Amino acid sequence: MLSKIRNIISKKKKSKIICLTAYSKNIAEELDKYTDLILVGDSLGSVLYNYKSTRNVTLEVIIEHAKSVRLGIKKSLMIVDMPYKTYRNKKEALKNCKKIIKETKCDGVKLEGGVKIKNIVNHLIINKIPVMGHIGILPQLVRGKFKSKGKSEKEKKQLMKDAVILEKMGCFGIVLECIEKNLSNKITKAIKIPTIGIGSSNCCDGQILVTDDLLGLTNSKIKFVKKYVDLKKHIRKGVKKFKSEVINKKYPTKSYSY
Ligand code: KIV
Repeated sequence: MLSKIRNIISKKKKSKIICLTAYSKNIAEELDKYTDLILVGDSLGSVLYNYKSTRNVTLEVIIEHAKSVRLGIKKSLMIVDMPYKTYRNKKEALKNCKKIIKETKCDGVKLEGGVKIKNIVNHLIINKIPVMGHIGILPQLVRGKFKSKGKSEKEKKQLMKDAVILEKMGCFGIVLECIEKNLSNKITKAIKIPTIGIGSSNCCDGQILVTDDLLGLTNSKIKFVKKYVDLKKHIRKGVKKFKSEVINKKYPTKSYSY
C-alpha cells in the first residue's frame, strides 16, 4: 500500500483529514501546502463547464484536468473521479482506471456507489488500484435537487451496508455526501477506514469541499457550502486597476518594458 494512503488511514481518530478538489495546477499548488488529499472531482462539469449534471464529464476531460493538477501536487494524495459510465462492469472499470493512472500519474480513483458496485470495486483493488468510495448523495445518479440521506430506517440500513461492504472490499476511505449526523457518526465508528464528509457533519474523520465554492468563485446556495473568501472581489479589484492603469498609460512603465 502506498505510504500516503497508509498515512491517511492512520489519521483516523487522531487528526482530521483535510481534502479539497482541484481542476488545475496553480490551484493545486496552493492547496497542497495544507491538504492531505486532492480530488480531481467530476464536479468540474458543473463548476467549470456549466453542465447540468456530472454525467457529461468524459474520461478525456477529467484526464486533461488531472494532468494539470498533477503538476501542482508535491505531497498530497491525488485521487481522480471515475466519470459516469466509465465503470459499468469490471473490464471497463479496470481498463479506464489503468488509463487514468497511466496518463495522470494519480494515486487512486473514486467511484460512486456501495453494495451495487462491490464486485467492480473489489476487482480494481485486486488489480492494485487504490479506491476511494462515495456514498450518500451520488451526484452521477441524482436528477434535480439534492436531498439529504439517512432519514428513513431503510436508507440508514442501506447506507451502513454500503459503507461496511466498501471497507470489506478494500477501499482506503469513503466520502459521505449529505448523510444525516447520527448516521455519519455511526458509520464513522463502525468502520476502520476514514470517512470524509461533505454536508455530513463534523463527526466524519475528514472533510472535503469543492475549492471553487470555498473561494467564492461559484454562486452555490447548497447548505453545506461555506464561502471562506470572496475571490471574485479580489479578481475584480485587480482587473479594474489594470484597466485603469492601461487607459491612463501608467502601465507598463519603463521598468515593465523592454
Ligand atoms: O466531484 C466532486 O468534486 C466530489 C466531491 C465534492 C466529493 O465528488
